[in-house]
Amino acid sequence: MTRVNQSEWQVLKSLQKAFRRLRLFFPFLFILVSITCFGVAPLSLLRAADSNAISPQAQSLPLGLPGLPKWVSTVTTSQIELGGKLFFDRGLSFNNTLSCSMCHLPEDAFASTQSARSVGMEGRTLQRNAPTLLNVVFQEMLFHDGRETSLALQAWLPLLHPDEMANPSIGYLIARVKDDPDYVRLFAQAFPGRGIDPMTLGEALAAFQSTLLSGNSRFDRWRFGGEENALSEAEKRGFELFAGKANCASCHTIDDAHALFSDSLYYNTGIGYRALTQKSESYNIQLAAGVVVEVESRYVDAISGPVPNDIGRFAITLDERDRWAYRTPTLRNVSRTEPYMHDGSIGTLDAVVEYYNEGGFRKDRSLSPLIKPLGLTQIERDDLVAFLVSLDGAEASGTQNK
Ligand code: HEC
Ligand code: HEC
Repeated sequence: MTRVNQSEWQVLKSLQKAFRRLRLFFPFLFILVSITCFGVAPLSLLRAADSNAISPQAQSLPLGLPGLPKWVSTVTTSQIELGGKLFFDRGLSFNNTLSCSMCHLPEDAFASTQSARSVGMEGRTLQRNAPTLLNVVFQEMLFHDGRETSLALQAWLPLLHPDEMANPSIGYLIARVKDDPDYVRLFAQAFPGRGIDPMTLGEALAAFQSTLLSGNSRFDRWRFGGEENALSEAEKRGFELFAGKANCASCHTIDDAHALFSDSLYYNTGIGYRALTQKSESYNIQLAAGVVVEVESRYVDAISGPVPNDIGRFAITLDERDRWAYRTPTLRNVSRTEPYMHDGSIGTLDAVVEYYNEGGFRKDRSLSPLIKPLGLTQIERDDLVAFLVSLDGAEASGTQNK
């Protein structure tokens, strides 16, 4: 038998007493323990155990951006990494020549600056200019005409389009990805229990694109960060024009706490109709990265057939009012994404401001009533351009992926 000495006995006694008292608090203790174990704690414990469960971009939202859409909170780091690999992989195109990143170039703010309209499979020119993918996560309607609503499903359009990545079918590409042991492993890790399928492939690409954030521009630091000197006097005057006399902010919106410079609505600003009436005499054809030659249209049309007129949102809604209407694009990083407009038909920001100053293409009777001659002086036009350049932002995590 174990001998208990006097002082140990006293300690035991007082413990017993304390325990008896504690019993009174049992119900209370029970609630406390359950909250800790099943409420707050499990979330943080889960997160600590699987650092994957925290979407990294949610933690470092640059100044000037609104909250991320809800789905981003479930994005994991392994999904982002897998999406980045897919985004830069030429093997996703039918003949291993094109990756997403060849039209959405990281060094061009994830747009293309080398040709007016993107160049796709075997040098074929697409109908439209590739838009920036920075902040694409905030777009509810995708493409210039808003024909897609889901970033995860969007990827299948370029993957299957015969002039883009030209895969003959969904099943064909999925089978090819499944043949790659590296992808089998990475998909299993990123999508436990799901593996490689059309949805997970799109979700991984969407996860990667959700990290392509850009904010904290000098404009943001001035407007939302209270840095009075972040903008020059000319840029501040440009802002006054943008939000006032020049009426730009009625479509390229700026909110009280953030700014995406787009109201996500569709307008006819005259570009589509102008293209119909002023068919260009030549095309810029990209022969290799950085090598662009100008070729007369008659030669190109003889091989590829004339390009049909782009009717914009009308093709999606069949509503006559949507003819030549396009989604208002963001203007963040706009100085890095020339040429401009859905067809890349305007080469510089000076020329864009000139176009608006003249009131758009006035021959177009269906122009948005918000597009009117502005009567800006040369100094005012320069100020407006200076303001647009101040929207160049710092980019968050995604661009460092590669
Ligand atoms: C051959 C060039 C090309 C390739 C390759 C390409 N894109 Fe694009 N992308 C474009 C063009 C052009 C548009 C605009 C098309 C339109 O509006 O009709 C576009 C639009 C988009 C949009 C919509 C952006 C917005 O603001 O609405 C997303 C997202 C996108 N691409 C992602 C991708 C992904 C992901 C891949 C790879 C799976 C990819 N793209 C491959 C040229 C390309
Ligand atoms: C009625 C709405 C509206 C107004 C007002 C407006 N814009 Fe636009 N803006 C658009 C739309 C829509 C497009 C896309 C047109 C297209 O792709 O053909 C666009 C395109 C642009 C582009 C090209 C962006 C790119 O990436 O291709 C710039 C730059 C621009 N606008 C600046 C301005 C400025 C500066 C003003 C004021 C002088 C202004 N906008 C007024 C709706 C508007």
